[in-house]
Amino acid sequence: MTLAAWTHCRLATMQADAATPYGLVDDGVLVVDGQQIAWVGPLSELPGALQARITVRHDAQGALITPGLIDCHTHLVYGGDRAHEFEQRLHGASYEDIARAGGGIASTVRATRAADAASLTAQSLPRLKALCAEGVTTVEIKSGYGLALEHERKILKVARALAHSTPVDVVTTFLGAHAVPPEFAGRPDDYLQEVLRMLPLLHAEGLVDAVDVFCERIAFSTAQTRKVFEAAQALGLAVKLHAEQLSDSGGSQLAAEFGALSCDHLEWLSPEGSAAMAAHGTVAVLLPGAFYFLRETRHPPVALLRGHKIPIAVSTDCNPGSSPCTSLLLMLSMACTLLQLTTEEALAGVTRNAALALGLRDRGVLAAGLRADFVLWDVAHPAQLSYAFGANPRLRTVVKGQSV
Ligand code: NIG
Ligand code: FE
Repeated sequence: MTLAAWTHCRLATMQADAATPYGLVDDGVLVVDGQQIAWVGPLSELPGALQARITVRHDAQGALITPGLIDCHTHLVYGGDRAHEFEQRLHGASYEDIARAGGGIASTVRATRAADAASLTAQSLPRLKALCAEGVTTVEIKSGYGLALEHERKILKVARALAHSTPVDVVTTFLGAHAVPPEFAGRPDDYLQEVLRMLPLLHAEGLVDAVDVFCERIAFSTAQTRKVFEAAQALGLAVKLHAEQLSDSGGSQLAAEFGALSCDHLEWLSPEGSAAMAAHGTVAVLLPGAFYFLRETRHPPVALLRGHKIPIAVSTDCNPGSSPCTSLLLMLSMACTLLQLTTEEALAGVTRNAALALGLRDRGVLAAGLRADFVLWDVAHPAQLSYAFGANPRLRTVVKGQSV
């Protein structure tokens, strides 16, 4: 058995109950046993018996080591782009105006349906590689630009296959209830029946890890969302929700009632929604890229989330309409500057709390028994990861104990 030790490093363990901010350990040691972390702590406390069994030594040369980053909310498998809508918005059109006029999600649906699996893979892989280049080791990818069985299947299969082209772990989410496709125009409830038909079929093919809905006045109501959640629950699938992004629809209460892993966006979250999320352990996923790109002025109620001790995650929301962004490090900066998170909250948002938002208990912090997914950075202090925007100080990524 090979025990490998990483030494000469500072560790940001991000353990929730750590005595120091970020769970910082100076002059730390990370011992890896195969695919798992075997021991984490200061060199001075490394047990002699363990030290004697170490066979491989890696000198981190003063690097900071954090858990592998987790991007817990993306729509990165899509065709085409929406730069022309960006231009329209700069000339005064709103995101909702464009969606109501048949653009928005519908225009990406056209481009995604037109692309075959090979083309969709070719268009999406660079986005996933860009995330990897910044130390991302786990990515959630949603469907939702197919909106018909064959196309939703194609997106989810491409998402699964992308995991084999890169070292990252991919988690898939079925977002059939993202928009009403053109062939169901004016018949949203008929389309909802189609969503309820697709879900068990795609689940039976092993393509679905969780279920999401876009609950919003331009998308699906809470009553419609409830039907999708009931279907997910019947299959034993976890749910999450695009909630209170453009208005307060009350989706967060509904999602919490279903034990949702997360509610995402949340600019319009009410005190009642926040209380419901707290009561059911639902994570708040903040998406500063969408806030920035749609030039929102309404801030997600961070003080309310803190008051309720709701875990806060941060993600790119990588998608062509509201956040064409492939930099999770930039989201750290924006989470601090635009949404007023602390640098420690921001880093917890892309590690520990992002893992919670995906229901993954085996990663997100550096602790014995968890997956050996971690990143070496050329910075002295973890605040620098949020501070220097546009920089990428990643030195090396380790996934399941292997340098990648
Ligand atoms: O997370 N809010 C819904 N879905 C995406 C945007 C979809 C699009 O505009 O293509 C989001 O912001
Ligand atoms: Fe989204």
